[in-house]
Amino acid sequence: MDMDTLFTIARQAAEAAYAPYSRFRVGAALLAQDGTVFSGCNVENRSFGLTICAERSAVVQGVSAGHRSFRALAIAAPDSPVPVGPCGACRQVLSEFMAAEAPVFFGGSGPRRIDTTIGELYPYDSLHELAGTT
Ligand code: THU
Repeated sequence: MDMDTLFTIARQAAEAAYAPYSRFRVGAALLAQDGTVFSGCNVENRSFGLTICAERSAVVQGVSAGHRSFRALAIAAPDSPVPVGPCGACRQVLSEFMAAEAPVFFGGSGPRRIDTTIGELYPYDSLHELAGTT
């Protein structure tokens, strides 16, 4: 599946966002190794710190369905004038289930897209590297 298609799925997922506090909808789409796509949206809470980002929502969907490795990620933030990449906490969580070279593609309301990898977004992922050696 190409990244534009994955982005379109992320954009659709953003429609389900529960974001009454920030009014900032985000959707994420994760491509599993077998080609299945799992999507998620941000789910806010009146106790603001409990908000769950779209990326972690998608990870939870995929892992709950039995997938532990994802090939690619797209993130759509239709309320943002600039492309929105995953927050720091999500980079850590995504790195658990994605290889460093896995592509990450993200955008905002305009046509600009950032095409990068988990390794670029979350370098020196020593704990992940150690997991392969122990
Ligand atoms: N948010 C995400 O879901 N993913 C990101 O990559 C950035 C931020 C959400 C959290 C919160 O609901 C809203 O966007 C504003 O930060």
